This record gives sequence, structure tokens and C-alpha cells, in this order.
Amino acid sequence: MDKILVHGGASLSGNVKISGSKNSALPILAATLLTKEPCVIHHVPDLSDIHYMLQILSHLGAQVERASGVVTVQAEKIITEAPYEIVRKMRASVCVIGPLLGREKEATVSLPGGCVIGDRPIDLHLKGFEALGAMHRIENGNVKVFAGELKGSSMSLRGKQGPTVLGTDNVMMAAVLADGTTVIDSAAAEPEVVDLANFLNKMGAKIEGAGTRRIVIEGVKELHGAEHSVIPDRIEAGTFLVAGAIAGKGVTLKRVDPSHLTAVTDALTRAGFLLKIEGDTITISPNGVWKPLELTTNPYPDFPTDMQAQMCALLAKTPGISVITETIFPQRYMHVSEMKRMGADISLNGATAVIKGVERLSGAPVMASDLRASAALVLAGLQSEGITEVNRVYHIDRGYELIDEKLNGLGAHIERVKA
Ligand code: EPZ
Repeated sequence: MDKILVHGGASLSGNVKISGSKNSALPILAATLLTKEPCVIHHVPDLSDIHYMLQILSHLGAQVERASGVVTVQAEKIITEAPYEIVRKMRASVCVIGPLLGREKEATVSLPGGCVIGDRPIDLHLKGFEALGAMHRIENGNVKVFAGELKGSSMSLRGKQGPTVLGTDNVMMAAVLADGTTVIDSAAAEPEVVDLANFLNKMGAKIEGAGTRRIVIEGVKELHGAEHSVIPDRIEAGTFLVAGAIAGKGVTLKRVDPSHLTAVTDALTRAGFLLKIEGDTITISPNGVWKPLELTTNPYPDFPTDMQAQMCALLAKTPGISVITETIFPQRYMHVSEMKRMGADISLNGATAVIKGVERLSGAPVMASDLRASAALVLAGLQSEGITEVNRVYHIDRGYELIDEKLNGLGAHIERVKA
């Protein structure tokens, strides 16, 4: 098992290219199950979560080929049961239920277990499938969803914490082959949902309204193969913007979609940084004093929960009092106790973190607990005195392609060593 050693104090500058989006590639790869014809997906990032999805597709019977960011999938003949061994490694595996149900009218997938970032039920996914006429039962740790036929229908996918991203994706993928019209109200509007809808429409689906809270899907008889490029990863981009804020002397992100990052670039501008946006590039530069912030995470287009931990790292050394409220995963603060080991002054009050900026952080051995928390610990290490040893970096490899090499390309001093 690897660990990462971050030598603090280096300043970052130069260009970094952003990879394809993990959270877009995963449901798009699952959607290839909806047709017998070949699908070609470009800009697929090299991540362990992507490997898990390709393993699931192969297990279900699909032919999968992969060469430097291009994945070709042909799911001519498939089975409908996804095994616990693979599914337990990645919650997002749940998004194969929709395409299997849409195409084969049944799916059996291991029910996702606990997650360190908080409670993550799939009740809204099942509610959506039920509205299409499907039934489900849970047995032996699996959820089996099945239907004689699927009929288009109207539903709301709003939960206590708002819309559901993978729930919207899953129901959309089941409804494209249903008989009649489906209307999803309180749909998630994330760019990854739009990217999936664009891919499905290229396959011959009839989806309108993706990117709004109301998605209308006209069911079709069958779908055909298609070719698609996955959008840039806005969370990887946001993470590198925070790295540029923390230790940068002018860092330029290449191949980003700035319109997907407005809430993040607005927050960094309010925090005292200069953001220059030109075409598909964003440059972040220091611009005087860092300013404290009040931030609340919410569904897109508001401030993303997947950037909350990284902002904690920035605000840990920002003079003054900052306040972050996490509304999507109220317990998503596993990084806080580790940052406090580095000298941060953060107090938690339920879903709210109060951050008192400190003058210095010192490097320490810290434990990564989940994907974004591990990225935040690397960012905290960049601005700490001495060496920060981030353990269990397999978490970071789930969602960041070559993060240590990319940061070293900007002038950081990071080593990856065998634990
Ligand atoms: C997606 O997860 C992302 N994962 C997450 O990113 C991201 O944090 C999350 O959306 C929110 O933006 C992928 O796209 C693979 P949700 P998802 O269903 O779809 C509750 C990362 O770091 N809920 O939108 O699983 C749920 O508990 C990952 O890349 C229900 O109550 O999240 C949460 O509080 C981590 N019932 C809220 O809704 C349901 O049936 C939003 O969850 C489903 C969700």
C-alpha cells in the first residue's frame, strides 16, 4: 500500500491538464449496457474506480477494450447480476441497475454498504424504478429490481438533502427504453447528468431538460452504439485551483469547462485570489491578503460538497474566522481531525465547521479516509512546514489521475513511497 510524502513550502506555477470526469465517465460506461452495438468513450480517466466499472461490465458479459483514455464497450449478450466482490469496492456500481432494468427488465446488484462520508441510501433510486412499474426485493445483501414491462410516468426525486445525482442518472437510463413519457421532477442538474443525457441522446434516446430540475424522457424501442468524449473533471479542476491558491505563483488549468466551476471560482475570488478565465483555461494567482469565507454546500450549481474538504485546507491558514456548512453529507468531516493533527484550529458543531486561521501548519503522519479528504490532506501538506505523510492513498487514486506527478509538474515536491 502506497503513501505520499508531501514536502511543504514549495511554490507552484505553470500549466496542468485536467483529466476526464470520473463522475461522468462512470454512469456513461454503465449506459453502454443499453445497446448491443459498440460504444467508444474518449477522455476516460485512468482511475481505480473506472477499473472497477470496467470489471463489472466484463463480468456482465460486455467486451471491453481500453487504450490510453479511449474505452470501447460492446454488450452484445449480458447477464443481469453484478457481484458483491466488485460492487462493494465502489458505491457508484449501483448505476448499472438502470440500464439492466431498461434493457432486460431485471437487475440484481449488491446493496451498497456503509460509507465514511455519511448515510447513502438508494431509496430514491428505487422510488423512481417503482414509478416506472418495477418492483424490488432485498435478499442476501442484494437488491433485485424487476418488471414485466416499464411504463413512462411522472415522479419527484427530491430527498431530505435535495435531488440525487446517481438516482437521476439511474432512472433516466431505465426510462429511455420504457413505453411512453417519463417526467423526473426535482432532478439533479449536475454537469455529469447533462453529459450522460447527451451520450444517451447520441444513442438514439429522446431526453429533454437535462441540466434543469425537470427532465422529460420519451421512451424508444431500442438504442444504437455511439461515440462520446467525457467532460473535464470539475472537481479535479477545483482541487488544482485550491492548490494554486495555497502555494501558487500563477497556476493555469488547461482543458477545463469554466462554466462548471462558477461556484468555486466565485468563492476563490471572494477569498482574495485572482482568477483569469480564457476559453477552456483558468489561471489562479495570488492577489494580496487571503480573506475568510462563509460557505454552504448545496446541489449544483451551488458550492459542491466534493470541494468542501479542499476549502477547509485553504481556510485553515486564512486569517480570521471562516464557517463552512455541509448540507449534502452532514458528517463529511473526516479530514478535520487529521488537519488538527497538523495544527489547524477547526471546531465542528453538527454539520458546521468553524475554522480559525492559524499562522503555521506542521507536517505530520495523517490518515486518508475518503477520496476528497485525502486530496485535502495533500493540499494542507503543501503549506505545512516539514513533511506530511499521507497514508492509505488508494483513496486518492480512486478519483485523481497521477495527482502527485501533476503537482510535481507545477513545482511541488511530492514522493510516492511503498508503506
Ligand atoms: C454523487 O454521489 C457523486 N458520486 C458524489 O461524489 C457526490 O458527493 C454526490 O453525488 C453529491 O454531489 C458520483 O457521481 C459517482 P446523491 P451520489 O445521491 O449520486 C441522499 C466523489 O467524491 N440520498 O446525489 O451517490 C444522500 O444520502 C463522490 O466523487 C438519499 O437520501 O449522491 C445524500 O445526502 C463522493 N436517497 C444526498 O441525497 C437516495 O436514494 C445526495 O446524494 C439517494 C441519495
